[in-house]
Amino acid sequence: MELTEGIATRSSVRGFKPTPIPAALLRQVLELAGRSPSYTNTQPWEVSVVTGAKRDRLSTILHDLAAAPAPGQSEVAAPLQWPAPCERRAAEHNARRFKTLQVERDDAAARNGLRLMNYQFFGAPCVLFLWLDKSLSEWSTFDLGLFTQTLALAAHGAGLGTCLQASLTHYPDAVRAFLGVPAHKRLMLGISLGYPDPDARLNSYRSARASLDEFVSWYD
Ligand SMILES: Cc1cc2nc3c(=O)[nH]c(=O)nc-3n(C[C@H](O)[C@H](O)[C@H](O)COP(=O)(O)O)c2cc1C
Repeated sequence: MELTEGIATRSSVRGFKPTPIPAALLRQVLELAGRSPSYTNTQPWEVSVVTGAKRDRLSTILHDLAAAPAPGQSEVAAPLQWPAPCERRAAEHNARRFKTLQVERDDAAARNGLRLMNYQFFGAPCVLFLWLDKSLSEWSTFDLGLFTQTLALAAHGAGLGTCLQASLTHYPDAVRAFLGVPAHKRLMLGISLGYPDPDARLNSYRSARASLDEFVSWYD
């Protein structure tokens, strides 16, 4: 796949086939992600790859917490208030998504069902957890973002789909305890990874984008 075509056609996948990912392909995608640029080449990213019985067990643990719902707290702060354009885009995203999926605004049960699918990894056979050492600064979060996008594109190029999930960071202590990750690692993101299911209803949604004029200023 051409690079430009890959960038243009990648989109979040929220319905996966259960087909396992061959180990060599998984390694290839992770190695390509590791080619990402980083601040003084520090390559601060650390990845837990979870498949098989461990994937199933961790999904159950997180799903049970989210369904309770147990109070969760991501270690990555969200702004107290988003700037107005961001808030508007998020609202539009949710409204368009629910409309595509034919979920009514006041249908709390259907919305909660969609939320909980995050913790089933949308059926993906593999889930990745991305970590940064807690001593690191915003520069490394920047690096991890680059790593994440490279990974998503490399996966797409290999015929795999990804869903980047902040929701999988809501119970960091549970993930750390289950995987034996030390307390000084911050859980930054979860990523569901697998072969997209073209028939999945959730995959019918395509997100919109702001026009160039909304985010570029020209100086001549
Ligand atoms: C940091 C980050 C966190 C995200 N968290 C979630 C999530 O918890 N659940 C989910 O379904 N999608 C999540 N997404 C996916 C976004 O909704 C998606 O990238 C955005 O709507 C643009 O759509 P696209 O990826 O299809 O182009 C997240 C994306 C990013 C970059």
